[in-house]
Amino acid sequence: MGLSPMDGVTDAAFRYITAKTSKPDVIYTEFVNVEGLARGAVSMLDHFIFNKIERPVVAQIYGIETESFYKVALMCCYLGFDGIDINMGCPANKVARRNSGAGLIRVPEQAKKIIRTVKQATQDWADGITLEKADIRPKIINYLTESATPASHRRKLIPVSVKTRIGIDKVVAEEWVQELLSESPAVIAMHGRTLKQMYGGEANWEVIGEVSKIVKKTDTLFLGNGDVQSIEDARAKCRQYGTDGVLVGRATCGNPWFFGGVEPTIKERFKAAVDHARCFEELSMKHAFFAMRKHLAWYCKGFDGARELRAQLMQANNSKEVKKIFDRFVLK
Ligand SMILES: Cc1cc2nc3c(=O)[nH]c(=O)nc-3n(C[C@H](O)[C@H](O)[C@H](O)COP(=O)(O)O)c2cc1C
Repeated sequence: MGLSPMDGVTDAAFRYITAKTSKPDVIYTEFVNVEGLARGAVSMLDHFIFNKIERPVVAQIYGIETESFYKVALMCCYLGFDGIDINMGCPANKVARRNSGAGLIRVPEQAKKIIRTVKQATQDWADGITLEKADIRPKIINYLTESATPASHRRKLIPVSVKTRIGIDKVVAEEWVQELLSESPAVIAMHGRTLKQMYGGEANWEVIGEVSKIVKKTDTLFLGNGDVQSIEDARAKCRQYGTDGVLVGRATCGNPWFFGGVEPTIKERFKAAVDHARCFEELSMKHAFFAMRKHLAWYCKGFDGARELRAQLMQANNSKEVKKIFDRFVLK
């Protein structure tokens, strides 16, 4: 039962709060662009900040150039991630039109080359390659050596996985998964929508069930994804469709209790929201506080006065203001 990657949502603070509150079996970071990072965009490494309580934690990366995948995969190994996931599911036009993200479904040969490259990087890392030898930019190496703790440099072979969709404009999941399986990724996670569907309509779990039968014959683990609403729903879907697990995205927003199946009281929700805001300030100092506001709104749903409270929280500029707003609301 894993926390699905969500760009702009599963940042370091959100992952930490979720892991502390209800511990998913696996956690994915937001996706990070390999070309940007390989060319030296050091700030992208902020997406890879994690706390050991999140383990096993998987770095998700996306792009199209194999050379950049290789370098960024080595960086992920250096940082001590437990796995690397290749995004083959993002439907955003700016990503998919370049044949990255879900666009890779269009170009299976390139997709397979990327899996091979990332696996090669993880193997080379285990065999002792240095970042210098891999021609990684000095400013990235400086950042990595300054920020990562020595314990995270162990030379372990980590698994490589893929997260994808069921097709581009029509369902081709069974053919597509065979292509992926030919490279033996450790895990395939499949969102039951096509690229064209984006997030509309319903996730097609029947297709996930069919694909599951194919993956079952291999050593690859298979995770279903899409529209799961509760941990009971997740367990029922695994049983019904034969998947090894599920990834859950949107139902975890404002709900770090999700994986424990516990319904929090309003007081607990308010406390978690304040803790989350503090954690965001600590871990995401360079990012403006407005990125936290959507999370605050997600915590405040389904009780009298929630709308007014959300409107006030949308003006908050720091965790102190957030606490004041909640305190005032409770006293009313
Ligand atoms: C705001 C948002 C950002 C997302 N970012 C990513 C991402 O970075 N990588 C990825 O593989 N999927 C991403 N997804 C897709 C989710 O991981 C998941 O596949 C999708 O939301 C369906 O699952 P759900 O119904 O449980 O949310 C994103 C989804 C949302 C809503």
